[in-house]
Amino acid sequence: MPPHASPSDISTPQTEFKASSYASDGKIHILLSATGSVASIKIPLILSALSKYSNVSVRLVFTTSSLLFLPPLTELLNIPNVDGIHLDHHEWPKDLSSTPAENLPTSASPDRENEETTSAIWSKIGDPILHIELRRWADILIIAPLSANSLAKIVGGFSDNLLLSVVRAWDTNKPIAVAPAMNTLMWEHPVTTSQIKVLETEWKWFKVLRPVEKLLACGDSGSGAMKEWSSIVSWVVEEMKLKLESEGGDVGNA
Ligand SMILES: Cc1cc2nc3c(=O)[nH]c(=O)nc-3n(C[C@H](O)[C@H](O)[C@H](O)COP(=O)(O)O)c2cc1C
Repeated sequence: MPPHASPSDISTPQTEFKASSYASDGKIHILLSATGSVASIKIPLILSALSKYSNVSVRLVFTTSSLLFLPPLTELLNIPNVDGIHLDHHEWPKDLSSTPAENLPTSASPDRENEETTSAIWSKIGDPILHIELRRWADILIIAPLSANSLAKIVGGFSDNLLLSVVRAWDTNKPIAVAPAMNTLMWEHPVTTSQIKVLETEWKWFKVLRPVEKLLACGDSGSGAMKEWSSIVSWVVEEMKLKLESEGGDVGNA
């Protein structure tokens, strides 16, 4: 198996992230997320397609389970238009429960021992809170693929990781597109039907890019496969009125 992504690929946040620093960059801000489905292998293809558009800035939020299906994250950071990757431990230090209080970041201990690993993590009132900053920054959130687990948590209102916190704190005037991907029997389960119904009929800021039928990675055949990655990109291009470099697009034309 080729090497896959790991939380340690980006052990610390690249920089402290504040949405206001990007408010006037003239770009369309796309927050793209993957969850723990094999279909996460399509993320590099989606990013490669989005790299061809002008005035686009993409930031990535990955659940820990999705990392199994992604290449080393530094490879994704090299794709044009990809401006950042945000992981759970960038919001919550991994070792929080085992970290003695005196070693936790605090404005009162400027020469703290953990400076390198915690410098961009919240430490005092007034510091940016990552999931809120990402929501402020994003013009759209795309979750492709969306696992059965994250679907259930979204509809249930859970917010126990970075992605779910962004979704829970979302400004409902902006769109969230989700592309569910799961085993056929999971997709056909009545609980999935009722969760999708909430997104499609009650939560109008959601767009469900429904799965397609094909032979799944597990060997079963039927509905549940993530919508074709190129169709997902086409939907985003149309929704956000993206312009190819060759079309000389900028936000003013959008
Ligand atoms: C190899 C493998 C493939 C998986 N594929 C899927 C899938 O396509 N869809 C899905 O809903 N869950 C799938 N799962 C299960 C999820 O990864 C698991 O429910 C996980 O908790 C999801 O976490 P997340 O929603 O936080 O990303 C798969 C698990 C493994 C080990």
